Amino acid sequence: MKKLPIVMDFDTGTDDAIAIICALMHRDCLDIKAITAVAGNVPLDATAANTLNIVDFLGHTDIPVARGAAAPLTRELKCAISHGKTGLGDVVVPTSTRAFCEKDAAEVIYDAAVECAGELVYLATGPQTNIALAIQRHPDIVNLIKKVYIMGGCLVGGNTTPATEFNAYVDPEALQVLFRSGLDVTMIGLDVTLRTAVPLWVKEAVSRVETPEAQLATKVIDFCLRRNKEWGYDEANLHDVVAFCSIVNPSVLTLKKYYVDVETEGTITRGMTVADFRDVCPDKEKNIWCAEDIDLGRFWSWFVDLFKNYERR
Ligand code: RIB
Ligand code: CA
Repeated sequence: MKKLPIVMDFDTGTDDAIAIICALMHRDCLDIKAITAVAGNVPLDATAANTLNIVDFLGHTDIPVARGAAAPLTRELKCAISHGKTGLGDVVVPTSTRAFCEKDAAEVIYDAAVECAGELVYLATGPQTNIALAIQRHPDIVNLIKKVYIMGGCLVGGNTTPATEFNAYVDPEALQVLFRSGLDVTMIGLDVTLRTAVPLWVKEAVSRVETPEAQLATKVIDFCLRRNKEWGYDEANLHDVVAFCSIVNPSVLTLKKYYVDVETEGTITRGMTVADFRDVCPDKEKNIWCAEDIDLGRFWSWFVDLFKNYERR
């Protein structure tokens, strides 16, 4: 079977880390052209180091890793606190000595898009700054990327403001550039990802798998569960894993296409992803596939089986 060419962008953070682990266990069906980092959960130095360290710790030193934007397109960076100072809580991953790509993320994404000549798939699970920069620098990229999947936004109810999801909040302008680009975009938002707090049986099932992938994922999940217990918020939601799953196991999700735009001038609505549920703007093209439902039973079975069945080549 022909492998799917993909570039993935993360603001590695805890759920990004687990999504990276899941993606690296899919190299039998994914041709990972590059993995890039963006500032978001924590500053770029941390997200980039976390990303490179995980990729190399799990033995994938052949995958180029690039540093991307250290700040949103126009605003000051606002980080999260729930991933801890390092972005991986108290989980320590051996430090890689490998160099990052010389080019920045936006150029790496564009080069991969040109190489794949219209077949490239792009996943982003942080603020959308890197793809927005790539679109602004190279407008022809919209004809070269087949599909874009993001973890971000929400149809109803935010996690950073009452109206806004974190990635959209950090860089509303970037998300608006993406949503107005004409690219085929699938938005995996909080509407489904807030339903994926890791159940104890899942954590225990993964912890029994004696691979570096399972043990690292277990450590990260353990931190998230302790964080929730000690700090009282942010369950161990696998937001970014759901976005990855939508690429390799799309039947787990129910999608519907809406006209969606992004609020960039609001105060309490900064970064709100506004969907036209009732077609009150019939002249506006339905531009974004939005995740409305998730089959949780199938999602958790997919997640656990992935670790149980993965054998390193
Ligand atoms: O709102 C959740 C999203 O913001 C996740 O991608 C998390 O990693 C943070 O980036
Ligand atoms: Ca993320």
